Amino acid sequence: MNPIRFYLVTDTHYLNNVLEPGGEAFEKNMITEQFFVKESGDIIHAVFDKIIGDKETDIVILPGDLVKNGEKESHNGFLKELYRLKDNDKKVYVITAGHDYNDNAYVLKGDGRAPVAGTDYNDLCDMYRDFGYGEAIAFDEPTHSYVAQITEGVRMLAIHCDSKGQPKGTIDERLMNWAKQQLDKAKEDNCSVFATCHYPVIPPVPAFELVGDAKIKDWRKIASFLADNGVEFVLTGHMHIQSINEFYSEKGNRLIDVCTSALVGSPAKYRKITVDDNSVLKVETLDVPDFGWDLKGFAPQEYFDNHFATAVVARIKGALDGGEGIVKHLKSFGRNRFDNITVGGFKRLLHIKKDKEFDKKKFSDFVGEVAVSIFSGDIPYIEGTPGYNLIAGILDRFSFVLKKVEPKLSKNGESIDLRNMLLDTIGNNKGFLDNNAEFILK
Ligand SMILES: [Fe+2]
Ligand SMILES: [Fe+2]
Repeated sequence: MNPIRFYLVTDTHYLNNVLEPGGEAFEKNMITEQFFVKESGDIIHAVFDKIIGDKETDIVILPGDLVKNGEKESHNGFLKELYRLKDNDKKVYVITAGHDYNDNAYVLKGDGRAPVAGTDYNDLCDMYRDFGYGEAIAFDEPTHSYVAQITEGVRMLAIHCDSKGQPKGTIDERLMNWAKQQLDKAKEDNCSVFATCHYPVIPPVPAFELVGDAKIKDWRKIASFLADNGVEFVLTGHMHIQSINEFYSEKGNRLIDVCTSALVGSPAKYRKITVDDNSVLKVETLDVPDFGWDLKGFAPQEYFDNHFATAVVARIKGALDGGEGIVKHLKSFGRNRFDNITVGGFKRLLHIKKDKEFDKKKFSDFVGEVAVSIFSGDIPYIEGTPGYNLIAGILDRFSFVLKKVEPKLSKNGESIDLRNMLLDTIGNNKGFLDNNAEFILK
């Protein structure tokens, strides 16, 4: 592949503050929300300032979920930011995704939802014509997929897998045929092609294999199709997670999926990606810089991660609320335990003896930390570490539950080893990192 260098920023989920979000409903939602909604504009502005400051990198790619939930005003504000990049000599390429169109947009205000102007799916390509669609050398009308000549000898196949009227996260036969034509044409024209697609093509962590919305439908078929037609890497988002994965097709061709987190909430990363003269693909991860808000003495990263850990715990507590009769009683017992028990106390309850490292920590805090680690990539709980031993110990105590659940989760009769799948999810054993990695391309 010819040398290329670009920034990758995804899932910016921008909400324009002219819509005046706030009030009780908004604050309640923020307790479990991963994103920093009111701060989103300033986070994006600060990151784009950094990108503008890098005079050697003139391409920026954004694979979808540009705004919070299809609000017209959010697109207007976001477009201003993109024009700021353009005015500073950046070439910007977007695809839109499920959060970018909405016929029933609203903003949380007062004690409920206040309707606001939404965005028609059919208007999006025109709205973003200066950011990829206008210079497309091929365009697939039904899905808004396109091909752009990014630089000499390099094309980007931008696959829209989250278009209106289609099942979410789908690349159907028709779209695959269109993509095949584009990949054949690129070969004829002596161009290399990389792809972008909002949904991960490879499950970002092993456990996401079981989560329907966490990766593209029929992902092995799609990954093989891309790899066998000369696509060596794909840039994805949607799951708000930092991960890099490799997949080998039956023919032995490799696809690398670089999945990047949402920008406006933990882990809040963006990437700089380079293919150098020796065809080395280098992926670097960057943090959100100071964005001008009072973060109570915390660095942005800590502030984002602390909030996400708390939000995960709040979601679990929320799931333990409600019910009727005995269910309500059991749930509130569980909630109370989850709220108060330490890791040491939980271990005693389950007769787990190994390692004392986390014993004094609140169990709920440990759960929050694990969740943040999974989404941040380079997950540290590998075999032999105290965290691994603790989680393995818990899974072993609940093996009778796992064995019951496994057949229900199995698709096409494939056997599932839930214990190992979960342990592979909490420790990166891939041989390369999720945040900073290098691969030699063909
Ligand atoms: Fe998203
Ligand atoms: Fe998404």
